[in-house]
Amino acid sequence: MALLEGKRALIVGIANQYSIATGIANVFAREGAELALTYQQERLKPKIERLAKDWPCQCILPCDVSQDDDIKQLFTKLKSHWSSIDIIVHAVAFAPMQELADDMVDVTTREGFKIAHDISSYSLIALTKAAKPMLTDNASVLTLSYLGSQRVMPNYNAMGLAKASLEAGVKYLASNLGPMNARVNAISAGPIKTLAASGIKQFRSILSYNQTMAPLRRNITQEDVGNTAAFLCSNLASGITGQTIYVDAGASIMGLAPNEIQ
Ligand SMILES: NC(=O)c1ccc[n+]([C@@H]2O[C@H](COP(=O)([O-])OP(=O)(O)OC[C@H]3O[C@@H](n4cnc5c(N)ncnc54)[C@H](O)[C@@H]3O)[C@@H](O)[C@H]2O)c1
Repeated sequence: MALLEGKRALIVGIANQYSIATGIANVFAREGAELALTYQQERLKPKIERLAKDWPCQCILPCDVSQDDDIKQLFTKLKSHWSSIDIIVHAVAFAPMQELADDMVDVTTREGFKIAHDISSYSLIALTKAAKPMLTDNASVLTLSYLGSQRVMPNYNAMGLAKASLEAGVKYLASNLGPMNARVNAISAGPIKTLAASGIKQFRSILSYNQTMAPLRRNITQEDVGNTAAFLCSNLASGITGQTIYVDAGASIMGLAPNEIQ
């Protein structure tokens, strides 16, 4: 039997074919899950509809996670399709571009900081809160983080702080939802070229650095993340909650890159 057979998964965060959430949707479809998807803006809807043709998906709904009303509407509409949800994937992050270049001390603004934390961290709480009445026994909530939450990454700035908040949120939510046998985890992914990543200054250099220093000597793919996501959201991971799992070709274990010492 496929890993996610009979499970219903809401995936929030597909923008295009390069999105990490698209990699997750591909694997979830392969593993037998039924999908519901969201789009942030009307202009993204046709792209997502085209992608969804390859997946078991009857339900594509709008949701801007910075709007409480959108989140409320999302679950009201979802209820007319599904009586319950087994999986929520939150693959959403945003900070204004000027926050993601140069020294944090110089570029971070109160407004930029607020936006980064609202969209990239609070939205996980907001979605989980709205989904809670529909979550099944052994439900799984999954979000995406990055090593910039734990270590200083050039230009990641306020987003690093937002990811630290997100990872702490995973622990609090896991504690809150544990008694109803629902699990909450994060995948900390290595760098992948996506729309969101292209907003980070020098992202190409980060990609090539990672490829040479990671123990597996490669960058990860959307499929690598999708495979771990499928495991974490399956019954095989029934004892795992509140964790941040690294899918980064091992990069996070390294102190110095081997080719930096001659
Ligand atoms: N690409 C990487 O290198 C990398 C590494 C680690 C973690 N991540 C994380 O993976 C997740 C997905 O990002 P991605 O790299 O696939 O990029 P992406 O641009 O494909 O996806 C980001 C998604 O966030 C959505 N979004 C932004 N603001 C929103 C809002 N207000 N309401 C609803 N949706 C909104 C966008 O529509 C988009 O679908 C993010 O949390 C990102 O931080 C990415």
